[in-house]
Formats: sequence, structure tokens, C-alpha cells
Amino acid sequence: MPAPSPEAAAHGERVAALIRAEIAAAGGWIGFDRYMELALYAPGLGYYTAGARKFGGDSEGGDFVTAPEISPLFAQALAAQVAQVFEHVPPRIVEFGAGTGRLARDLIDALDARGAAVENYSIVELSADLRERQRNLLADARVQWLDSPPRDFAGVIVANEVLDVMPVRLFLREQGRLTERGVTLRDGALAFEGRPADTELAGAVADIEAEVGSLPDGYGSEIGLVARGWMRSASDWLARGALLAIDYGFPRREYYHPQRLMGTLMCHYRHHAHADPLWLPGLNDITAHVDFTTMAQAAHDGGLGVLGYTTQAHFLLNCGLLDRVRRAGTPQAANAAHRLLSEAEMGELVKVLAVGRGIDAALLGFARGDRTHTL
Ligand SMILES: C[S@@+](CC[C@H](N)C(=O)[O-])C[C@H]1O[C@@H](n2cnc3c(N)ncnc32)[C@H](O)[C@@H]1O
Repeated sequence: MPAPSPEAAAHGERVAALIRAEIAAAGGWIGFDRYMELALYAPGLGYYTAGARKFGGDSEGGDFVTAPEISPLFAQALAAQVAQVFEHVPPRIVEFGAGTGRLARDLIDALDARGAAVENYSIVELSADLRERQRNLLADARVQWLDSPPRDFAGVIVANEVLDVMPVRLFLREQGRLTERGVTLRDGALAFEGRPADTELAGAVADIEAEVGSLPDGYGSEIGLVARGWMRSASDWLARGALLAIDYGFPRREYYHPQRLMGTLMCHYRHHAHADPLWLPGLNDITAHVDFTTMAQAAHDGGLGVLGYTTQAHFLLNCGLLDRVRRAGTPQAANAAHRLLSEAEMGELVKVLAVGRGIDAALLGFARGDRTHTL
């Protein structure tokens, strides 16, 4: 792992000090969800809130690359789907977690080019630092920032790689007991420690076991209750239209497969993936895959219907990505398409879930390869 610069190490130490103080104030232990919230979003200190470089290629000094950062082809393909929904709802978009603002910029341009111009593009962004970055990139009068999610919105909601950075709770089955893995201090250092699971966590694990069968001893994983709550709230936000959630994840049966003994928690530091979220808090991205069955159920509980679920590769192909690559005719476009579509990269691991109400047309992004039946 590349060593952090002295400034970065000092920043990491400030984040760790904040977390140690919170653990002490809480009596010696905090749940992993609270740890993740602090490490990623503590105001002015967390990974997403403190101005670290985060996104971009190796040469740009980032930690990871998302699909919209790879190429505008992603936004151009997405625009085909958005334009189809615009035939049924006002041409408005709300994007959650817009990162650098690249997807917003490219999506607006692609919709303009298709003659399906967006009238209003709103961004809900948790990080003040990223909001600033987005403002610098998006000098378009149609773009605005919301301090809270919309209500009774008609249009399209987009969230790319947002659900996988929402805090998760960790559980472990050991010797017949169910424990919650949280964070404590051992000789002054951050360390994992289990506590008996509370009723909320035990109930969520029981729901999983009711579907996938008993999980074996030694089995540990995570549960995204924040993401579930977010999707449940989406029904209050969306009066008419579609919400497209694009993220790493699987249906529940695959997620909590008895052989996936260690869950999906993953950290990214300068393009190195590692599995120790307690290492240098505030300097690493921490992610967990999305349980799309739970997401579909949460949307359904709120009164939204599932409009489609498929892999990123199928979605982008259905939206005409290859035509665009052919038209571009450059090695860069071919290389970007490979990264977006390849099973070994994002094509299979990343899924697209569309939920919504008031749209009776079949969405074109799911025309071939729809996997709703697997949820
Ligand atoms: C991994 S980045 C993805 C950024 C961008 N969508 C992309 O694909 O490049 C996650 C983004 O979601 C934001 N975020 C996380 N939780 C959020 C929430 N509950 N509401 C709004 N934004 C959130 C982060 O601050 C960050 O901008």
C-alpha cells in the first residue's frame, strides 16, 4: 500500500482522534455504521467531506474511478433511458450524490444533443466539499442544489454509486450467537469487537435467514439499513416518474450466499482495494455492495413498482452504447466501453434498478437481459 504523505497521515490522525473521542463518550464501543458515518462524512474531516482527491485515474491521484468518470459514453447511454421517461413526465432530474458533477454535466449535454433538454437539474449532495466542486464544474442556470430530498417530485431521480457508500451494520454468527461487530479501543488503537445483536439487527438477519436458510457458524456480513431507509423514503420524494439506482450489488440470495463468508465490505486507497476499514479512517473510501432484493422491497413497501433490474452491461447495451462507440471510432471510446461492459470490470458486478410510478411504458434499458425475477 502506498504510504500517505505526512499531511495525509496527520489528517488521518485527526479523524481517528475524533472517532476515539466518540467511542470513549459512548462507553467504549460504537456500531460499525456509526464508525463508517464518521470516517466518510464527519463534517470537514470525513473521506467525502474533507477535500481528499477521491475520484480519478492513478495519474490524477484519486482512489477509485466511477463509470461517469471513465467516459461520457456512460451519461450518453443513460440519456437514452432518461429521454424515454421524459416522454411521460416533466423533463426534470434530481441526482443524489453527484461526486465531481461529471455525470450531471455529461447527462445535461447528452439530453440537449438528443433534443430532450432537461428543464431543471437538482442535486442532493451530502458533502459540502463536493458541492463546491460541482458548482465549479456546472455553470448552467438549470442546475440547483437542494438541502434535502424533494417532495412530490415528477421526473427522473438518479443515484450512481451512492447506496454503496451508505453506512452498514456488521453481524457475525459465532457459536450459535448473533453478534454485532462494532469498533472499540484496544491499547488506544481502533479494533473490532462484538456485542450481542439488538432486536433491529437480529430481526433483519432473521429476515435474511428466512429466505436463504440458516447461515453457518463463523458467517459474517453486513446489512444496509440506511440504504433501505433511503429507498423506503423514495416513495415520498417521487410522485411520478422513475428512480434509477446504479451500484455494485446482487439479489439477496446471492449476497447472503452461505459461501460468501466475509460479506462485501471493501476499502479503496489510491486504486488499491483492501479489506481493513479501520486503517487510516478518513483517507479511505469504504463501500459495501447493495442488496437489491431489499431495495426493491423497500421501494415496493412505499408504493413504488419495480420497472426493471439488470446488469450495467445489459442496461448500457440496451441504451445504445455500442452505436455510440462505433460512431466515436476511437481507441479511447473502445477502451472505455470495455471497462463499462466487461464482466471482469463493471459490466456484471454493477446493477441498475429502476423503480417508479405512473410510467406504463416498458423501459428500454431493460429490454434485453432483465433480471427482475432474480430479486
Ligand atoms: C462514490 S461517490 C459517487 C459519485 C458520483 N455519483 C459518481 O458516480 O461519480 C458517492 C457520492 O454520494 C454522496 N453521498 C453519500 N451519501 C449520500 C446521501 N445520503 N445523500 C446524498 N449524497 C450522498 C457522496 O458525498 C458522494 O458524492
